[in-house]
Amino acid sequence: MSARLDGPRKVTGQADYALDRTFPGMLYGYIVLSTIAHGEITAMDVTAAKSAPGVVSVYSPFDPLELHPFKSQLMGDLWLPLHDRDVIFYGQPIGLVVAETFEQARDAAGLIEVSYQEKPALTSMEDGLATAEDAPESRGSAPSIEVLADGVESIADALAQSSVVVAETYRTATQNHAAMEPHSAVAKWDGGELSLYSGNQASYLQATEMAGVLGIEPSAVHAVNPYVGGAFGGKAGTSAPGMLAAAAARALDRPVKCALTREQVFTATANRPATVQKIALGADRDGTLIAVRHDSWSATSMSRSFVEPTSHGTSREWYATQNLSISQKMVPLHIPPGTFMRAPGEASGSFALESAVDELAIALDMDPIELRRRNSSLAPPGVDLQWSSKHLDECYEIGAQRFGWANRSPRGHVDGDWLVGMGTATAMFPGLRFPATVEIVLNADGTADVSTGGADPGTGLLTVLATIGAESLDIDPERVTPHLGDSQFAPGGMSGGSTATASTGTAIMLAATELLDELVALAAEPGAPFEGEVVTYAEGLLHGNHGTMPFGELLRAIGRESLSAKGSSAPGEEMTKHSFSSFGAQFCEVRVHRLTREVRVSRMLGVFDGGRIINPTQARSQLSGGMIWGVSAALHEGLETEPSGRPANADFASYLLPVNADIPEIDVQFVEYPDTLHNAVGARGVGEIGAVGMAAAVANAVCNATGIRVRSIPIMIEDLL
Ligand code: MOS
Repeated sequence: MSARLDGPRKVTGQADYALDRTFPGMLYGYIVLSTIAHGEITAMDVTAAKSAPGVVSVYSPFDPLELHPFKSQLMGDLWLPLHDRDVIFYGQPIGLVVAETFEQARDAAGLIEVSYQEKPALTSMEDGLATAEDAPESRGSAPSIEVLADGVESIADALAQSSVVVAETYRTATQNHAAMEPHSAVAKWDGGELSLYSGNQASYLQATEMAGVLGIEPSAVHAVNPYVGGAFGGKAGTSAPGMLAAAAARALDRPVKCALTREQVFTATANRPATVQKIALGADRDGTLIAVRHDSWSATSMSRSFVEPTSHGTSREWYATQNLSISQKMVPLHIPPGTFMRAPGEASGSFALESAVDELAIALDMDPIELRRRNSSLAPPGVDLQWSSKHLDECYEIGAQRFGWANRSPRGHVDGDWLVGMGTATAMFPGLRFPATVEIVLNADGTADVSTGGADPGTGLLTVLATIGAESLDIDPERVTPHLGDSQFAPGGMSGGSTATASTGTAIMLAATELLDELVALAAEPGAPFEGEVVTYAEGLLHGNHGTMPFGELLRAIGRESLSAKGSSAPGEEMTKHSFSSFGAQFCEVRVHRLTREVRVSRMLGVFDGGRIINPTQARSQLSGGMIWGVSAALHEGLETEPSGRPANADFASYLLPVNADIPEIDVQFVEYPDTLHNAVGARGVGEIGAVGMAAAVANAVCNATGIRVRSIPIMIEDLL
């Protein structure tokens, strides 16, 4: 099976996204945002808004909706919109207007007069650095680590003992998810039960969060979301539209639809925080790394709810070294909160680390691939558990050959008006799993259903369910119907952390094993077609002593409409035996115009070791999407904050994203070594690793082409003048 099952529905407009849901009597909510970055709301005059045409109700911190404090397993303490008068960032939700139409709600919102007692706001990372605090061990943060060789007193000593040292500071910009589908929700109550249609990455998790903030039982929340228009960390938690729509619908006893506008998405959701990273690499003349020091500062909101863990909380640094020091600090600012974004930590962290490695290669006059090979690790530094399966060298061999790396000159080359350069970088992303449960049903008509309460935010999980389901049941994929995006299904894996295939895939295999065992036993029971025989199962058929029978026919013969079983998987003993990571080699060629200094990416290649690849078409799509994300980080994306705290480019005209003309053909290759030490399926996950390393590969290529090292992304034309 290569085609994406939900593809035709998505491209023909038949997929029901949250906002496509419409119910009789439905009202529309419009969220009001703060227009200062720091202060207290002293009054909100909603008189005019309340009497505007079509307005049903107006909510504010002076007249809030009923929401209860709740600590989410994944997201920590949930922020409750409209529950405090303190404003801690520009664009913070402070009100909700509910009206008969969207336009009426929006117009009335413009009539609300907000009075503030404004306080000084700290909005710039550079200004904030002086206020840095140690990052607590909370969501997204990475604890400090120090590993020193015997006899070495400190990381500074180890660096001092190194023949060659590169010590530089790198910066990455704030990014916003800017998902195609803005955060939105439609809420409908039926008695004490809520149906919520809102994009998420795990419907069971959303149901739990909504139940928590609404003060009802999780079983009373039905979270429905078969289609999600982009998430990648940005919809891991329930957003303000979800909470406000649900609470307003309850208060008004009518369905409520609520969506953010494109501009609102940039502040009323959450961002990938900006970072400042200091890296020091010390090496011998032959390139052997002696010391790696990586100190990171992540912007964070004043709620201190998320830190971009650039110092690799999960996979540590990537190279074999005797001496390693990692620290993570946060810089609290009056800016919107941060959250997970595709390869959180690794994407921004790899820009700094892999740029520094390129700088070290230049300082050593050594090929950058050779330098990386010499320092390849068997295990994370200071950890006794070796990588379960690592084929990074092979990724580089294949990549170097396909990309024509041998033709690269240390100073690039010139082609007419264009300076051409090549760059490379390593990509790593930890191999993780989350608990997942899947239910499989065999039907008397010879079909099967595979269902889980996870979500498919565009990653292709729906197709993976069918593929692994068919494989586990040994039947044609066309006979398997996958279902997800509904909290009434078995609590499925989270679509995040590149875990869904490994987590749900393992659960599918366990469910299928149990189901087929039961089927075989039923076939041989007294009165059943294979009574008393030794029965086996293969290719959808039960095999007895005298013949075969399709499973559907057997179910009919024993008077069963269906037979079902659940399978659950969770990370377990394997975590005590090995370290797990996916690996990749990123390559990029850029052309920099000698006069205008514009940078064009002309070729891209990524070779990845992600364990077994279940669906090459979809895996390639995930990886090329990630690689584009890397180019975007390197050359396009950056949310700029004015001193007032107002985002300066909160729209698609000025928040630059690469378009087709910016991206060349992308070559994605796999080395395929199933990692059955990690899970039974052998797949380790390829969702996020495409976004790792590519920004550094671009910057390294720009340096190769121009001789100019840019240590801050996005790279601007003015950096290359
Ligand atoms: Mo992941 S940060 O949910 O792509």
